[in-house]
Amino acid sequence: MNDQAQRLRDLLNQKKNVKEARTIAVLSGKGGVGKSNFALNFGIGLAKHQKKVILFDLDFGMGNIDVLMGLAPKKTIVNMFNESLSLSEIIETGPYSLSYVAAGSGLSDLFEMNDLHFEYFVNQLREVAYQYDYIIFDLGAGLQRQHVHFALAAHECVVVTTTEPTSITDAYSVLKHLYSERENISLQLLVNRAVSEKEGKQTLQRLTKVVKQFLSKDINSLGFVYDDRSVIDAVKEQTPFLLKNEKSLASRSLTAIIDSYLEPTSTEMNRPSHSFVTKLKMLFSRKVE
Ligand SMILES: Nc1ncnc2c1ncn2[C@@H]1O[C@H](COP(=O)(O)OP(=O)(O)O)[C@@H](O)[C@H]1O
Ligand SMILES: [Mg+2]
Repeated sequence: MNDQAQRLRDLLNQKKNVKEARTIAVLSGKGGVGKSNFALNFGIGLAKHQKKVILFDLDFGMGNIDVLMGLAPKKTIVNMFNESLSLSEIIETGPYSLSYVAAGSGLSDLFEMNDLHFEYFVNQLREVAYQYDYIIFDLGAGLQRQHVHFALAAHECVVVTTTEPTSITDAYSVLKHLYSERENISLQLLVNRAVSEKEGKQTLQRLTKVVKQFLSKDINSLGFVYDDRSVIDAVKEQTPFLLKNEKSLASRSLTAIIDSYLEPTSTEMNRPSHSFVTKLKMLFSRKVE
């Protein structure tokens, strides 16, 4: 008995010293703005820096992370629920040892259908939260209920918009909603498909200004990624654009974003007091702070 108690104590002490992964939720108002390409290449960029990264494709019903890499996953999140698998059994490996979990088809049905699935998923996440440096969720467009839970629980949310007014106004609606759900949420703006530095910076500035003026919030700018034909070619070739050509405009702009993101002072300050998994559980049982 004593031996067992000691082992348990050792185990708990071990956990205390291990850092929980930083969780990043990628979302947008409008669809097709480049979330999946950003989430995947951002993840690969972090992995290139020897970070342990896991990417979850949670774009319910429209998952395509595996397609963007030209990989055929053996198991998906749908298999996890249907076959009661553990999360570790469905984790696949991509470039630079990036771990990923594919969405599979019919995921939205599963999530909508049964809250137990969500609870199961959260419990599985608890296990992996300490094995990675970064957990990235590709959440898809709009604000479905589960998306909001992930967004509110994550250490930070990256809201992606293009420079088109329709995309910007939809992004603003998402920001407004998330701030109203959690006042101190850490939101980061990412402008995708900027045709020039001027356009990228102006879009960031305008949106930042509107958020300040109407929501009284200081939103962070993660940066902008260039509109680049090589991204379209990379999607067609099913190769992540960062790997296809690391010198392309899109790759260079993304690399600059990753480099500044990894600077120790950039976002670590915003780390909330509760762990991600605890937060997710609390939100799910509606004990929202
Ligand atoms: N930086 C970019 N430059 C040019 N085209 C892009 C860029 N980012 C995305 N695209 C185009 O937009 C399409 C949708 O991107 P995707 O990442 O699948 O969007 P989402 O996940 O938001 O639906 C891509 O297939 C590609 O053709
Ligand atoms: Mg997508």
